[in-house]
Amino acid sequence: MFKKLFRQNENFIDGELSPELPLPKHVAIIMDGNGRWAKKRLLPRIAGHKEGMNVVKKITRYANSLGIEVLTLYAFSTENWKRPTDEVDYLMKLPVEFFDTFVPELVEQNVRINVMGYRDNLPLHTLRAVENAIERTKHCTGLVLNFALNYGSRAEIISAAKEAVRELEKAGKSAEELRESDIEKYLMSSGLGDPDLLIRTSGELRLSNFMLWQLAYSEFYFTDVHWPDFTEGNFLEAMIDFQNRSRRYGGL
Ligand code: IPE
Ligand code: IPE
Ligand code: MG
Repeated sequence: MFKKLFRQNENFIDGELSPELPLPKHVAIIMDGNGRWAKKRLLPRIAGHKEGMNVVKKITRYANSLGIEVLTLYAFSTENWKRPTDEVDYLMKLPVEFFDTFVPELVEQNVRINVMGYRDNLPLHTLRAVENAIERTKHCTGLVLNFALNYGSRAEIISAAKEAVRELEKAGKSAEELRESDIEKYLMSSGLGDPDLLIRTSGELRLSNFMLWQLAYSEFYFTDVHWPDFTEGNFLEAMIDFQNRSRRYGGL
């Protein structure tokens, strides 16, 4: 096979995308390492989050240009409230700045915003920014940019199971008849399909309560690159890696 080497981020990427092999339709990213990126530069942690926001813009454009259908980004977990108040406050202001500066371009690029997570305890300004971005992009038919904001997967599965059982009860059926599709219907990602590929940056090898149900048969890709340093070239490397996986789903 013809291989091309090109320079990206001081590294050489070995290989290229194959036009014959599929790309992932749904890519999910655990954007990690903002704090460590900042620390390395003797900057406050929030400087890492700010730079991380710019990377979100860059990777959204690139994923859209490749024809990816859904890009799910883990922006804030239900466990992240444990962080110092000033950091949490900053993280809750970021969506306001992000959507204020980026929504016009998103509309132009036909990108639709979706947000999954518990909205009840978001500060009002964050909630407004989220609802406004969803409303302003609801007609877009290109990439779905899906943010996991105040998201936690175990809680999501419990809520979905409760809803599904309630629905069975209403229909006079017993819990014995519960099927996977009954739960899937009530997951916050319902309708978006399961991620084909999960990327986690910054060298941590764990899921941190992210899409536990949906990632059952996803391919995993880990990189040591901190999220603020993550480039289009790094994303491309993950795509090339994905094309070289063999997905068997338990079969042969
Ligand atoms: C990811 O970066 C962003 C959020 C979790 C909000 P971190 O803030 O977790 O950065 P590290 O892991 O401390 O380096
Ligand atoms: C996961 O990262 C959450 C997000 C990326 C938003 P964390 O940095 O919070 O995860 P842990 O604490 O290292 O597992
Ligand atoms: Mg982290």
